[in-house]
Amino acid sequence: MRSGIGRSLVGIRGLRDGELEALLDLARALRARVRAGETLSELRGKTVALLFLEPSTRTRFSFEVAARRLGAECLVFSSDSSSTVKGETLLDTTRVLRSLGTDCIVVRHQASGVPHQLARRLELPLINAGDGINEHPTQALLDALTLQDRFGSLEGRTVAIVGDIRHSRVARSNCYALPRLGARVLVAGPGTLCPDELAALGVEVRHGIDEVLADADAVMMLRIQRERLGAGMVPSDAEYMRLYGLDAPRMSRLRPGAVVMHPAPMNRGVEIHDDVADSTASVIFRQAENGVFVRMAALLRAMQPGGLS
Ligand code: CP
Repeated sequence: MRSGIGRSLVGIRGLRDGELEALLDLARALRARVRAGETLSELRGKTVALLFLEPSTRTRFSFEVAARRLGAECLVFSSDSSSTVKGETLLDTTRVLRSLGTDCIVVRHQASGVPHQLARRLELPLINAGDGINEHPTQALLDALTLQDRFGSLEGRTVAIVGDIRHSRVARSNCYALPRLGARVLVAGPGTLCPDELAALGVEVRHGIDEVLADADAVMMLRIQRERLGAGMVPSDAEYMRLYGLDAPRMSRLRPGAVVMHPAPMNRGVEIHDDVADSTASVIFRQAENGVFVRMAALLRAMQPGGLS
């Protein structure tokens, strides 16, 4: 019996030495081929199932574009019209998809740990498209690729991650990825959303946005995750913008040549002002573009591991 776990991507934390760098190198190579106008067919005859049990725009569509660009077919699962509403377990749903000839499953789920549990029991490779507050590995890959595009090596670079760190799978995956690539990571946010225990991830916890900007080559603003917040954890939107939001005066205090990032969806006027999101320092839509290439790399690694450079 094949075990899917070896080619699965459930988190950045589980990647072995060199695997993070290999995925980024592969994403760059695939991007060059796509931009040169090459038609890719490495995954022709393969089928990828996209199971998104939480809303998504960027991740879902970019996995679909990525799979099709490699020649694969996509089965797009809709939770409201599938047999999960009749009580079928997710494991049984994935087993059905395997019976139908699926070669790889991409899962987003609101509960932390679900992709890992499925990957242990499935005989198919699985890619985590974001699980609860745990990890979002392909987001961290696309963030790293975007930073490397701007700076080359990340050795000696400082990335500040600001906002709702506690509930952010994006922050967690970046806290695992960026130090492995040589970057120093500072995190800041309200005490309720940026607890001191985060230092255990190997990052520096500073709380106030004004304490991190002058040191940052990149600032990654995070969305307040209202769907995961307890009552009273954040002030009003206007108060949050005043205390923790990135506006033009604050942006002017970043290091020269610094970039502004956001995984999106953005709450404009809450954590980021329009003047910043649409400024020349913003690489937010480049992040989305790079999402396709890192997801092509993750799919290729999952289904054609021998093809990894
Ligand atoms: N950044 C991100 O995961 O966006 P979506 O929720 O739209 O996929």
